[in-house]
Amino acid sequence: MKTGAIGIFDSGYGGLTVLSEIRARMSGYDYLYLGDNARAPYGNRSYERVYQFTLEAVKWFFDKGCHLVILACNTASAKALRTIQQVDLPKLDPGRRVLGVIRPTAERVARFTRSGHVGVLGTDGTILSRSYELEIDKLHPGLTVTGEACPMWVPLVENREHDKPGADYFVKQHLDRLLQQDPDIDAIILGCTHYPLLIEKIVDFLPDKVTVIPQGKEVADSLLDYLHRHPEMEAKCTKGGTVQYYTTDSPEKFNQMASLFMNEPVDARKTSLDITK
Ligand code: DGL
Repeated sequence: MKTGAIGIFDSGYGGLTVLSEIRARMSGYDYLYLGDNARAPYGNRSYERVYQFTLEAVKWFFDKGCHLVILACNTASAKALRTIQQVDLPKLDPGRRVLGVIRPTAERVARFTRSGHVGVLGTDGTILSRSYELEIDKLHPGLTVTGEACPMWVPLVENREHDKPGADYFVKQHLDRLLQQDPDIDAIILGCTHYPLLIEKIVDFLPDKVTVIPQGKEVADSLLDYLHRHPEMEAKCTKGGTVQYYTTDSPEKFNQMASLFMNEPVDARKTSLDITK
């Protein structure tokens, strides 16, 4: 089946936080969501592995007819996006586009801080890549950016422990560490698409002066803006208002979890990313 759906990719469920914001802004388009749940989490995997998995996903979306793919995963955006854009896209199909979530968030961060001190929470891969620091420094050179890796947070979400009391310890631990590094931080980017599920706990453990920035809205605004600026791409996106979900793991488990994220029943199909062509 060939479609012109907008592809949304994540290692697992986290990208659904981005998809729901995108759909809230642009419900008329068709969307194709893929969670590579069988190989999640990506956060502590090597550069090569994240690149390989993400490239497989991009080829899968292209094979399904998508012209535009959003990597709704910071780890994939940090470790794979640039190579895919610069090396793979020109060979695969220069007319198609793959966009990430780091730049749109970095572009909009300045409006959330008064002190000029910004924190970023993310996976090991995202924080060690220093992608946010580098991107924010290019766009807003006056801001001071401090990162904190939270390697336990994605497993908490993927295992449905994020709203349980046991999660408190891990949430508080990383917020304390971040604010110890820079007590002047007054805006914190949730630089992992899984983290909005922990937002209630995050807000509870932070002083009132700190604004928490879940990136879904920023990415949705940026996509809307992108489609306005690129009418040739906009014309290729079909507008049937549908969403199809695929997972590389059990659809039953995916449906259960994804319906919580999306607040509606989800009927996912199983797929494999072992694309050899
Ligand atoms: N939700 C993804 C991110 O934004 C991936 C997390 C993971 O698989 O470790 O980084």
